[in-house]
Amino acid sequence: MEHLVETQQFDRKSLKKLFELATSIEGKRDESLKGKILVSLFFAPSTRTRLSFESAMFRLGGDVITMESGESSSQSKGETLEDSIRVVSQYGDIIVMRHGEVGTAARAAAVSKVPIINAGDGNMGQHPTQALLDLYTIQRELGCEDGIHVAIVGNLKYYRSPRSLAYLLSKYKDMHVTFISSPELRMEGDVKEHLKESGVQFIETEDMIEGIRDADVVYQTRIAKEWIKNDEEYERQRGRYIITRAVADSMKKGAIIIHALPRVGEIEAEVDDSPHAVYFKQVGYGLIVRMALLKTMLGGKKI
Ligand code: CP
Repeated sequence: MEHLVETQQFDRKSLKKLFELATSIEGKRDESLKGKILVSLFFAPSTRTRLSFESAMFRLGGDVITMESGESSSQSKGETLEDSIRVVSQYGDIIVMRHGEVGTAARAAAVSKVPIINAGDGNMGQHPTQALLDLYTIQRELGCEDGIHVAIVGNLKYYRSPRSLAYLLSKYKDMHVTFISSPELRMEGDVKEHLKESGVQFIETEDMIEGIRDADVVYQTRIAKEWIKNDEEYERQRGRYIITRAVADSMKKGAIIIHALPRVGEIEAEVDDSPHAVYFKQVGYGLIVRMALLKTMLGGKKI
């Protein structure tokens, strides 16, 4: 049985196959997962990931069972994650799980009777399906796979999605990454070490305007209040890197702005009708990527 815990599990060939499947099912519904049950297990808040997986399952003819919230689960009575998974994995055919602690997806995978999809584990863990849809968006919008310059802006330390994306970018040739952040929110060493070993050129800067000038992709992130516990620190960081219309207009022709969403002010509303803005279109790409992933994993194929 195969689980999806981290993006290091993919290679270029498996990404291509998944993305081709996603493109082929765009705008379609089928009954290929009829009789299958997805368990939607979110111990931490979500709008997009949860609802897009549930929508994906329904569009493929499957069913979904879910919990109202983490607080309504028996973990609030002291049940261990492992025991919850041993039980819940007997109710469905696949589990999509989000949890506030790093490493919980791997712990769940170790005891589950059915495949686990990591829908985000902790602030410094991974969010593999977000990274898959980010990469799909980049390749679809730019029309190429190699030689792409990605600038990742803002909260690089306490944000699992750019961590997961960095591992995927390293599968391609002539990739450049510019990490733009304050010194306090720099990307962690494990990701930078991996990029170095993979031959991806990267630089770190505090200067957003300079950093995005030559970028093909500007990946804006949220300064996550739930992960920066110190209020003073949060206030200091918030507002440091805002994409205004003037900032967007300074980007090169054809470059795109992506964001995992939700946004809380780091991209101003006046940017939404800029030709660079693709962050809402990205949501639609996420749906077909997750449909393709469910079809692959529940179809018994390797990811
Ligand atoms: N991008 C993302 O993970 O959004 P949600 O937290 O709403 O699922």
